[in-house]
Parts: sequence; structure tokens; C-alpha cells
Amino acid sequence: MSETVAIHYKDAQGAEQKIELPVITGSENEKGIDIGVLRAKTGFITLDPGYMNTGACQSAITYIDGDKGILRYRGFPIEVLAEKAKFLDVAHLLIYGALPTKSQLLNFENEIAQHALLHEDMKEMFEAFPKGAHPMAMLTSMMASLSAFYQDDEGAAGEVFDLNVVRILAKVPSLIAYGYKRSVGRPFMYPSTKLGYCENFLQMMFSLPTEPYEVDPDYAEVLNQLLVCHADHEQNCSTSTVRIARSSRASLFASVAAGVCSLWGPLHGGANQEVIEMLQWIKDDGGDVKKVVELAKKKDSGFRLMGFGHRVYKNFDPRAKIIKAAADKLLGKLKVSDPLLDIAKELEEAALKDAYFVERKLYPNVDFYSGIIYKTMGIPVKAFPAMFALGRMPGWIAHARELSNDPANKIGRPRQIYTGPNVSSFVPLEQRAGARS
Ligand code: CMC
Repeated sequence: MSETVAIHYKDAQGAEQKIELPVITGSENEKGIDIGVLRAKTGFITLDPGYMNTGACQSAITYIDGDKGILRYRGFPIEVLAEKAKFLDVAHLLIYGALPTKSQLLNFENEIAQHALLHEDMKEMFEAFPKGAHPMAMLTSMMASLSAFYQDDEGAAGEVFDLNVVRILAKVPSLIAYGYKRSVGRPFMYPSTKLGYCENFLQMMFSLPTEPYEVDPDYAEVLNQLLVCHADHEQNCSTSTVRIARSSRASLFASVAAGVCSLWGPLHGGANQEVIEMLQWIKDDGGDVKKVVELAKKKDSGFRLMGFGHRVYKNFDPRAKIIKAAADKLLGKLKVSDPLLDIAKELEEAALKDAYFVERKLYPNVDFYSGIIYKTMGIPVKAFPAMFALGRMPGWIAHARELSNDPANKIGRPRQIYTGPNVSSFVPLEQRAGARS
């Protein structure tokens, strides 16, 4: 007999009742209680603010064991992919469920290279942004605006969907690079079909029409690693946003644009910008990491150690390990030292010895060391969250595709427990007290 969980409760008349709910078991033996019939049969809903303990779907894309620090895309450990795979290998793996063959990868790369050009009218849209616009403000708007340029009906996941997958992966690097060029008042550089994905992005960011530019292979390699590490992370805030948006049958562009908005916040993808700003602030303030650790422990300070802590990882974040090693390798190879890297390491050491962080299982996350690398490459600090978005695109797309291919997919629509006033009588204007809650 299949596994069930029994819930005992009192009904409206106070009589003892019991309901058996089926248990769903995942391929890694994760267990969930299927509460689909709970409300219809008992009148109860579940309440879980912040979705701390709510499974929103079954998914075959990414597996995380936060207690053991495990992250796998379609079964492949992140450590292996970060060392051996190209970002577009990983994109194909996440979206289509298998590593591409040689010819599939070549096709995928070619198609993406062909679609990297932006519609020329988009340049005018870039011109309309104020000079100091945040890169994420531009990326969210431009991402959503792609749905105005490409209006073909996707239906569920089919040929048009696949074309839009290529369009998104191809155009996001161009959008970020164009936004950067706009912010520094330099000419937009067109994408090149002769360069690899990461090389092309670096070329668009940093080359100028006035002089030859050679992509630094170390930068391209480390960028590839960073993008692979960011490519998916199952039901995080932005991916859940993409799934919810897509569940209403919004276009892929619109759904992904919603994901970019959600990623922007400092508790999510915006943390990589905040980490570097925090490290800079520590340096300018004399470099006392202990003082900062103390400040982060004070709840009323409103300050958190940025790049620390994770909803799921309670031992270590495997991506942070890879990225810390990559930062050491890159800076070592370039024979440059960055005082912010030294401060980051001191800060990590101080926090990991502190009972507050130990008790709460707070470790450096993916955002703690990534900014050091981006900064070394010359990427402006405000653009770091956009780099996270670039890496996360395949994950968002993979989840949108999985959801669209699921015949049981329903529009995402959580419930609530209402806590407002009971039925109120309308008050004429001159008699209103006007108190706001
Ligand atoms: N500094 C100080 N205290 C912290 C921190 C931190 N970075 N993170 C969590 N805590 C404390 C928090 O105050 C709470 O303490 P208490 O139990 O006494 O109330 C406890 O640890 C649990 O925190 P929480 O906010 O309930 O945990 P959460 O799972 O809701 O939040 C988090 C996870 C990532 C939002 C949070 O750790 C945080 O704000 N970190 C800093 C921002 C950051 O680095 N975000 C990037 C996350 S990784 C990239 C991504 O996928 O987005």
C-alpha cells in the first residue's frame, strides 16, 4: 500500500475526524504530503509564509541537499559541470534534459550566435533611459520589451518556444552590454558570430571601435564557471516567480522578465552588488571585520552580513567553494591582489568562528566571492545582479518549459487566511476617521 500521512482534526461541529493524505516520494527519497484535497475534504488550508516548507511542484531539473551541500543539475554535480562544461552545454542540459551531442551543441551555439543581434529600434529604447539607470532596471524593461518584438504565439513548449529560448539566451548578453555602454556613454559594440558565448559578451562589454580588442582567455574561462554556477537553483524566489508568471500562460519573455525583477532584490541576486559595497565600506572604515560581525548580529541595526546565509544550505554552499577557489586562481594568475578579497576572507573567518553564525548555520553563499571576480574583470558593481540574471536564464527557461509541458499544470494561485475587518458599512466622506493601518 502506498504511504500516507494521517491528519486528525475537529470539524465545525467539534467531532473528531481523520483524513489520510498521500505521500509523494522523489527520486532522492524526499517526501511531501499531497494536500490537494485537504480544503475540499476538511475546510483547512496550509499556511506557510515565505514558503519555508512548501513544495510548489515536482521537478526533474535540479536537486539540492542543503544539509550536505549538494547541488546537481539533472543529476550532474555542480563541481563537475563547473570544471568541465561550457555554459551552453549546461543550458541545453537544464532546458532539454540532456547534455548535447557535438552536433547539437554546435547547432545550439550557432543559432545563439546568429540571434545575438538586437533589433535596431532597441537602441532608441536604450537612449531613453537616464544615464544613471540601474542595469537591472534596463534589463527588466528590455527583457519584457522583447515580447513586443517577437510576438509569435508560443503555445506550450514547441518550435516557437525553442526559437524564443535561443532568442533569450542570445540577446541577454547583448542587452547587458548595451546597457553598460549606454551608462558610460560609449558606442554599442555589435555581437560577433566568430566568438564563443562568454568571449562575445566580454567583447561587447569592453571593446571599442577605435582599437583592436583581444578577449582574455582567463576571463572567459572564469566567466563560464560563474555562469554555470548560477544556471539553476530549483525553486528559489526568482524561479518561483517565473513559474507563477508562466502558469498564467504569459510569454516566455514576460515570464523571464518577471524573474529578473524578482532577482533584483538585495536578499536574492542583488546581494552580489551589496557584498562588494559592504567590503568597500569595511575597507574605507579601517578594515575591522569583527565590528561588522557584531553589527550584523544586532537585530535593530537593520544590517545583515551580505553574501551570508541561505534558505536551503545549512552546511556550506558548494557554489561559494567553487567561486572562492576561482577568485584565488584568477587573482593569483593575474598576479594582482585585491584588498577586498583579503577582507572577504577575514570576514568569513570571523563569522564562521562566531556562535551567532554557527548556531544559525550561516555560511558564505554564491554571492560572497563572485563580485571579487566580476570586479577584477572590470564589470561595474551595479551590473553584478545582471550578471547573476545572465547565468540564471537557462534555469528560468528550463522551469518555464517543464511547467508548460506538464499537462497537469494549473495557474499558480496561493490562498490566504484573511485577517481584515468583517463586513463593514460604507461611511460617508464627512464622517470618516481616516486612520490608516
Ligand atoms: N546576517 C546576519 N544574520 C542573518 C543573516 C545574515 N546574512 N542571514 C540570516 N540571518 C539570521 C536572521 O536574522 C535569523 O535570525 P533569528 O533566527 O535570530 O531571527 C536567522 O539567521 C534565519 O534567517 P532568516 O532570514 O529567517 O532566513 P531565510 O532563510 O528566510 O533567509 C537569506 C535567507 C539568504 C535571505 C538570509 O540569509 C539573508 O538575508 N542573507 C543575506 C543576503 C544574501 O546574501 N542573499 C543571497 C542569497 S544566495 C543567492 C540567491 O540564491 O539568492
